[in-house]
Amino acid sequence: MTPWPIRSLLGLVLTLAANLCACAAVPGKDPTAGPEEPPAVGPHINAPFQAPDFGQWLGSFEHTGREVFDERFRIVAALGLQPGATVADIGAGTGLFTLLFARAVGPTGRVYAVEIAQTFLAGILERTKDYHVTNVVGVLGTRDDTGLEEASIDLAFVCDTYHHFEYPKAMLASIARALRPGGELVVIDYRRTPGLSSPWVQGHVRAGQEQVTEEIVAAGFVPLGEETFLRDNWFLRFRKADVEPSDPPRAQEQGQDSSRPPGTTVQKRCNNLILLSARRLLDVLPKHKFITN
Ligand SMILES: C[S@@+](CC[C@H](N)C(=O)[O-])C[C@H]1O[C@@H](n2cnc3c(N)ncnc32)[C@H](O)[C@@H]1O
Repeated sequence: MTPWPIRSLLGLVLTLAANLCACAAVPGKDPTAGPEEPPAVGPHINAPFQAPDFGQWLGSFEHTGREVFDERFRIVAALGLQPGATVADIGAGTGLFTLLFARAVGPTGRVYAVEIAQTFLAGILERTKDYHVTNVVGVLGTRDDTGLEEASIDLAFVCDTYHHFEYPKAMLASIARALRPGGELVVIDYRRTPGLSSPWVQGHVRAGQEQVTEEIVAAGFVPLGEETFLRDNWFLRFRKADVEPSDPPRAQEQGQDSSRPPGTTVQKRCNNLILLSARRLLDVLPKHKFITN
């Protein structure tokens, strides 16, 4: 595969320069700053994956008794993947779903295994040989960015990982960017019911189905429904909305809302572009890597 960072770097530099020329700088904003949201959960949640022992995690993620492992074939079937589709398994872990997706979408499809732990990516790519699949691409993301290219995927799949997102807003924005128009997001995560869920779930999983749904809808996704065959987990589907959630109605953009100074929206978009370009420029250099086998 052509190395994406090199190809994109020039484009990003030019975009950044153009944006800086065309738009005023944002007073008080540091374009190199991290996500604007406070962390939803501390870094301890991902500490065990910093230098993971692949074999050990294979045993933890892929064993009888873990519901998403026991029901893996039913989960994949419920997604209705078509040959040729492009899927991102975000927080791919040991590749439990990545490898099944790779078979489901076939040689004309592609599966991006997105991880923040490079060891997991290396292990997944090693496993593709046993599975006889050549359509898996490892993507080393960051805690607030999938590292996926814009409009590059049909489905984003997030299993047992949403509660590991330290910056869920930024991750959802990154997922929305990566989805093609009409693309879908599927999230599976532990049921967290006060009084019913185990003390481990209560302590480990920060939010239940209702709160997660609110967060995903606030990020601009439209709920499509849920699968109800899992006992310990919920399984929700969303579609990427056609319009960004922060977009005001057209009337406001055309200056018909007297409470909003004309140009505010355009200025905000320019500011966002500058920040986005600067952050993507910084991000792609040391952190994002596309890895193929
Ligand atoms: C509990 S594991 C789930 C693995 C796999 N989805 C499964 O169900 O077997 C969560 C994974 O999410 C990854 N992760 C955490 N935050 C992430 C982020 N912002 N982007 C990508 N991966 C992330 C962790 O490294 C870890 O491998």
